[in-house]
Amino acid sequence: MIVADLGCSSGPNTLCFISEVIGIITRYCKEVGLPHDHPQLQFFLNDLPGNDFNNLFKLVEQFNKLAARNHRGEAPPPCYISGLPGSYYTRLFPCQSVHLFHSLFCLHWRSQAPEGVKGTGKTHQHNRDIYITKTTSPTLAKLFQQQFQRDFSLFLKLRYEELVFGGHIILTFIGRKHEDVLSTESNHHLYGLLAQSLQSLVDEGLLKKEKLDSFYLPVYSPSIGEVVAIIEQSGMFNMNHVKLFEIDWDPYYDSESDVVHDSVSSSVNVARCIRAVMEPLIACHFGETILDRLFKEYAHRVAKHLEKEKTKHAVIALSMKKVI
Ligand SMILES: C[S@@+](CC[C@H](N)C(=O)[O-])C[C@H]1O[C@@H](n2cnc3c(N)ncnc32)[C@H](O)[C@@H]1O
Repeated sequence: MIVADLGCSSGPNTLCFISEVIGIITRYCKEVGLPHDHPQLQFFLNDLPGNDFNNLFKLVEQFNKLAARNHRGEAPPPCYISGLPGSYYTRLFPCQSVHLFHSLFCLHWRSQAPEGVKGTGKTHQHNRDIYITKTTSPTLAKLFQQQFQRDFSLFLKLRYEELVFGGHIILTFIGRKHEDVLSTESNHHLYGLLAQSLQSLVDEGLLKKEKLDSFYLPVYSPSIGEVVAIIEQSGMFNMNHVKLFEIDWDPYYDSESDVVHDSVSSSVNVARCIRAVMEPLIACHFGETILDRLFKEYAHRVAKHLEKEKTKHAVIALSMKKVI
């Protein structure tokens, strides 16, 4: 059985996924009365070539040792783990060779900033947006939306070609609660505060205005409606399950409560997360020297925002099966 985790990064989350798959296969084999007849499992861990695969391989080594110990007395399911550098917006596998694709917190990333705005600078009405906010012009919002439609359609076509018939895809990514692209949404705040922080560095003379004017985030958070429409239009997959849920901005303090208990410490956590995700992109465009100053400013602005309201990420999780 060939399994691929797309956008695996270099931390332990991808190994949780592998563990989960091994556990499910082991339980299934027991249930059907074939406890020693596991399929051989091959996992491909994919990310962009700049990913820290060295760190990942060290974690894989520890994981293999631990897995061998956990199955003392019983042979662990045969499992082979490899790295696969490359963009999931290109072909990664031979035709009809993969049984299961998984991707966690990746598909809100676009292959590039929207076509048509990059490098053209921002006009007055675009209001220094680096992503969509409630004051963004509908034209700019449409460009982000169209980039998502192109990327997601391409992603589906490529994975369709690579999956065996009946193969599955499980995707979890940051989405949008409301259908209206200009409605006030969590990510508008999250990236709006980043835009304001960059602007404050321009105002202080630490960044060139032209640099900010040519910067747009290559991300887009779609609504469930948009995602389902593209999948149905493709005619390539049957949807098994789709759901939207919410998680706190601060991953260390995910709770049902509507208030943030310590907005300063939460803001530091949020700034660290966003820095971990955005740093390579920001360093590449603006240079590394601004990073500490930028994310200090960002944490400050996030704290102010969290004092007023607790905001959550909307997350879309879906599973689908390749049509026969
Ligand atoms: C927020 S991280 C999520 C990592 C991991 N799945 C997890 O949940 O911890 C997003 C990852 O997607 C990767 N990524 C973004 N665009 C990609 C692409 N086109 N092809 C492959 N990986 C991509 C990034 O390099 C990054 O490691």
